[in-house]
Amino acid sequence: MQLLHLIISITFAAGFSAAAVAPGVPHVSLSIDRSTSYQTIDGFGFCEAFQRAHAISNLPLPYQKDVLDLLFGKVHGAGFSILRLGLGSSPDSRLDHMNSPQPDSEGAFSWDHRDSGQVWVAQQAKRYGVEMFYADAWSAPGYMKTNGRDDQGGWLCGVSGEGMADGTSCHGVSWVQAYAEYLARYVQAYIQEGIPISFVGHLNEPNLIKPYATMQSNGYQAADSIFAMAVALGGLGLNSVGISCCEGQGWSYAKNILAEIQNAGAEGALSLITTHTYKGTPPGPDGPLNTTLPVWVTEISPIMQRLGMTETWYRNLSENEGLTHAINLHEAFVTGNVSAYIYWIGVGQNNMWAPNDANTAMSTNISAPYYTIGSTYWASAQFSRFVRPGAKRIRVVQSDMGTGVTANILASAYLNKDGSVVVQVINNDDLDTWVDTSPGPLPSQQRCKAETWLTDNANKFVLYDEGTTRNGLVVGRLLPRRSLTTFVLKC
Ligand SMILES: *[C@@H]1O[C@H](CO)[C@@H](O)[C@H](O)[C@H]1NC(C)=O
Ligand SMILES: *[C@@H]1O[C@H](CO)[C@@H](O)[C@H](O)[C@H]1NC(C)=O
Ligand SMILES: *[C@@H]1O[C@H](CO)[C@@H](O)[C@H](O)[C@H]1NC(C)=O
Ligand SMILES: *[C@@H]1O[C@H](CO)[C@@H](O)[C@H](O)[C@H]1NC(C)=O
Repeated sequence: MQLLHLIISITFAAGFSAAAVAPGVPHVSLSIDRSTSYQTIDGFGFCEAFQRAHAISNLPLPYQKDVLDLLFGKVHGAGFSILRLGLGSSPDSRLDHMNSPQPDSEGAFSWDHRDSGQVWVAQQAKRYGVEMFYADAWSAPGYMKTNGRDDQGGWLCGVSGEGMADGTSCHGVSWVQAYAEYLARYVQAYIQEGIPISFVGHLNEPNLIKPYATMQSNGYQAADSIFAMAVALGGLGLNSVGISCCEGQGWSYAKNILAEIQNAGAEGALSLITTHTYKGTPPGPDGPLNTTLPVWVTEISPIMQRLGMTETWYRNLSENEGLTHAINLHEAFVTGNVSAYIYWIGVGQNNMWAPNDANTAMSTNISAPYYTIGSTYWASAQFSRFVRPGAKRIRVVQSDMGTGVTANILASAYLNKDGSVVVQVINNDDLDTWVDTSPGPLPSQQRCKAETWLTDNANKFVLYDEGTTRNGLVVGRLLPRRSLTTFVLKC
């Protein structure tokens, strides 16, 4: 391990300044250690389940293109690389139901080529180069469950301890293998549409009972389905599709259900651990999950405080502000060892669920301005465009440069597969703060291209500086108060 701190060997070009840091300004130096790496980052994404897909497809074409560019564009947009799909279980498409391709026990699996508008979104994503599609079911169809309906909780008939006694709608029949086959056929249907599914999950928030598709499960019951899914996917020749679990509402729930899955001996059949973070940002006091599998945060949106979507980046660190979301991303990667971060709904239609719906990062409208961008989008976008799939998180050591004023900086660093180094720096302070950053040891004379990108209350993901520099590059920048700055160093 070698730490580099080379304030002296600076060759600045236009943009960056080597000026002495003014008195009273907090000053931090970030030393990047490329030889110490942590988890691989799989990417960033969102979901358009519950018919939210129509919020994009219903837009007039020029605005539809704007929104797709914002989501998937790698040059001017977020370059999101993961699309989460909601596999339907409902008997119809009323309201915001996700209809099932096999809505009754007697009928055949009948694919409608739409899947509540999500096939269209997946095809758009693929057109922009998205390669990772993650399919997740909220529930089994009602006829497979103890309560005979896909909403209001209930269990899958036949999982450990459920449904085989009188008093349920199971009539002593297990639907565990049938549900697994249903999911495998769903995956196959997407593949036939040209959408390669990387992972499939059978649960969503299995700790909740709600008036929408919900199915309860503990880790032992999940294990029954996980084993059955491995058999069902294999039966259709889909062994390369990974199985994920369990989409619990929060980090401590994920910890508990994972321990049960491990006790049941089913962790080895999984490829991915998934969790939501509505109950506290990850990882809270619990630390990383006890697994060597990648862990994805597969849902987050600021719905707990009921403040609605806001365009304001920073006011008081309420959960709906972009700066708060940037801090959540930082914590997930640095202290939670998370490999991917998927927002809940990317785009919804204003007034479809609620005005200023906090479930969505952007909202569309039937007339001008046609779409509105919530501030959480900017935090996701500024991470996603630069920290590309396959990047490794690397070590960054922060030193206070002794101006006598303590800084309040959160920094994380990533090494992309193309060799570029990305440093995400949050200034969560009311003082502007000077930050130096260096990409680690480099051959002398090697030229490096450096850029900084900025989001704060006044700027939304703008190019702040760019320049070419060489010799143990150190890039210095005054970071505005309450901002997210991305340093991109290409050497
Ligand atoms: C971590 O998981 C392993 C199984 O992978 C298990 O043997 C071990 O007891 C777990 N440790 C804790 C602290 O739960
Ligand atoms: C972090 O996650 C990776 C998988 O993505 C795993 O191999 C590693 O053991 C985890 N590290 C910690 C400290 O949990
Ligand atoms: C933060 O600001 C929002 C919007 O004005 C307000 O609703 C909320 O109560 C404030 N929160 C705190 C902790 O002051
Ligand atoms: C959406 O359109 C309606 C109807 O034209 C308009 O009254 C409203 O102000 C718009 N809302 C937003 C958030 O743009």
